[in-house]
Amino acid sequence: MAQYPINMHVLPEVESFFDPQTNTISYVVMDPNSTSCAVIDSVMDIDYAAGRITYEHADEIIAYIEKFKLKLEWLIETHVHADHLSAAPYIQSKLGGKIGIGDQITVVQETFGKVFNEGTEFQRDGSQFDRLFKDGDTYEIGSMTAFAMHTPGHTPACMVHVIGDAAFVGDTLFMPDGGSARADFPGGDAGELYDSIQKVLALPDDMRLFMCHDYGPDGREIMWETTVAEEKAENIHVGKGKTREEFIKFREARDATLAVPKLILPSLQVNMRAGDVPKTEDGKPMLKVPINAI
Ligand SMILES: [Fe+2]
Repeated sequence: MAQYPINMHVLPEVESFFDPQTNTISYVVMDPNSTSCAVIDSVMDIDYAAGRITYEHADEIIAYIEKFKLKLEWLIETHVHADHLSAAPYIQSKLGGKIGIGDQITVVQETFGKVFNEGTEFQRDGSQFDRLFKDGDTYEIGSMTAFAMHTPGHTPACMVHVIGDAAFVGDTLFMPDGGSARADFPGGDAGELYDSIQKVLALPDDMRLFMCHDYGPDGREIMWETTVAEEKAENIHVGKGKTREEFIKFREARDATLAVPKLILPSLQVNMRAGDVPKTEDGKPMLKVPINAI
C-alpha cells in the first residue's frame, strides 16, 4: 500500500444522507481545519413512471452546506451508478465545486453509448466531468489531501475515495452482513472485484469505511459505517480469508439470480453524462428505453 498517501491523523467530519427510495447513502465530508467540504454520491429524485425529476434529497444536502457556510470543493461519484441518478450538476449549479469520477468512465461511456444508440454528440472521452481520476491521484479538500483508489469489478470505473481516516467504498463492499455488490454489469468481473476488495481490506484496520448502499439484511436497521477490521473479520462474502476462487464461484452464481435494478435505464443515461439528463435536438430532456438490450 506504499503508493497511496494514507494519513490516519486526518479526521474528516462526515454527515450522512440516506435516500430510502434507492437505499443510497450520500455524504458531506468536511475538513475540520477549514470550511471546505466534498459531496459524495448525491441522488436525484425520479418518478420513473411519470418521467418526473425533483431534487428534495439534493436540496437537503444543499441546505446543510449552506447552514454551516461550507465551501463545496468537490462532487465525487464513486462510479456510474445503475440504481440511482446523480444530482451532482444540480448541486454544482447552486454551490460550485468540481465533479470527479474514475478515468475508466470512458469504457462505460463506450459500452452504454452503443446500448443507448447515442450519436456522435455524446462524447465518450469523459469530458462531461471536471476531473477524471487515475489510480493513486490526489486532490485537496481544504487542508486535507484525498486520494482515489481504482477498484474495478462492480464496474470498470469504480473508485474508492480515501480522505484521512475515512474511505468511501462505493459499491466495492457492503456492510459485513451485506457482503459485496454484484459484478455482472457490462464490464464487471467477480475476480477483479475480489482483488479490489483486497485493496480496501489492506487499508489500516481502524480506517472508517462508508458504504454507498445498505439494504438492512434480515430486517436490521439501515447502517452504513464500519471499519476495515470488521469487514476482514465478519464480511459474509470475503471475510475470514475467503479465497478468490470461492468468491468468484459464489458471486457469479448469486448474480445469475438477481433482477435488473429498477432504475438502471434512466440511471445509466444520466450518470454517464455526469448527471445531466440527455436532450433531444430541440433541447427537450428525454430518456430512451432500448428494448432487450440490457
Ligand atoms: Fe453501483
